[in-house]
Amino acid sequence: MKKIAVMTSGGDAPGMNAAIRAAVRTAVTENIEIVGIKRGYSGLLDEDFIEMSYASVGGIMEKGGTILRSSRCEEFQTTEGRKRAAEILKKYGIEALVVIGGEGSLTGAMLLSEENDIPVIGIPGTIDNDIAHTDMCIGVDTCLNTVIGNIQKLKDTASSHERAFIVEVMGRHSGYIALASGLATGAEAILIPEIPVDYDAIAEKLWNERKRGKINCIVVVAEGVASAYTVARHMEHRIGYETRITILGHVQRGGSPTAFDRILASRMGYEAIKALQEEDFGTMIALQSGKMVRIPLKKVLSEKKKIDEKLIEMIKNPFVGS
Ligand code: F6P
Repeated sequence: MKKIAVMTSGGDAPGMNAAIRAAVRTAVTENIEIVGIKRGYSGLLDEDFIEMSYASVGGIMEKGGTILRSSRCEEFQTTEGRKRAAEILKKYGIEALVVIGGEGSLTGAMLLSEENDIPVIGIPGTIDNDIAHTDMCIGVDTCLNTVIGNIQKLKDTASSHERAFIVEVMGRHSGYIALASGLATGAEAILIPEIPVDYDAIAEKLWNERKRGKINCIVVVAEGVASAYTVARHMEHRIGYETRITILGHVQRGGSPTAFDRILASRMGYEAIKALQEEDFGTMIALQSGKMVRIPLKKVLSEKKKIDEKLIEMIKNPFVGS
């Protein structure tokens, strides 16, 4: 393999730069030419390429976001769009592609490969942690630390004013961010798409806690369940606390990656180049029980990642609430 490309696609995630850095430096060391594709699949279709070198990825490990930038691209979701992308790759002599992104981006990579015979390797990068067969995705740990830090601050002001805060976090289809951050902050209630919501039971629990003298209350809700406004409408006036709403939004996607994300991303970027060299095409680099493994993209994308049953059991009781 003489020339390859790397891109980031979909929602950005802290640590993507560390993965780019590792992929570029490993490729260069192995005498493989590597180009960066800017703005994900949109940049590929616009032929927006940049030569990468050992030096060009210096000092990016600690940066949030992605130096290659990212996008969600509608044209690439069509067979014609992917065919055009494959022709562009061939025109530039690019023999294989490393895609760092979430479920949609990895699906695009798999289809590009299947339909046009382009070797691809996927790296899971999304704060949602909703990709099957990998224990963690790049960005999850940093996101959780951001969420936890912010909830901690809300707890301070909640206690001063004896208020309840309904905190909406990201996660359209997965409750992982809500569950893990709620667990780590001792939230009084955690609402995730994986568990049917019983507003009456939650309101009763919060009311009882208020009666026994609790001065603050945190309810974490995943955006995939309902908006924080909807949750507040269901509960205010019957939980005994004045209620305020915080939607954390895209602050969850930014920030300098944690040590965990830097190391995970570096390992994955390195492993992606090794997988290409060993012709393990069409695979995703995954973390399983502390080890780097390669799983066929088809297998990864045909399954929905389940949140560990034990974690769900734990948040039902007695761990929820502090
Ligand atoms: O997939 C990552 C994610 O941050 C989701 O948690 C969230 O629902 C979505 O992206 C937001 O997407 P956008 O940045 O396009 O609004």
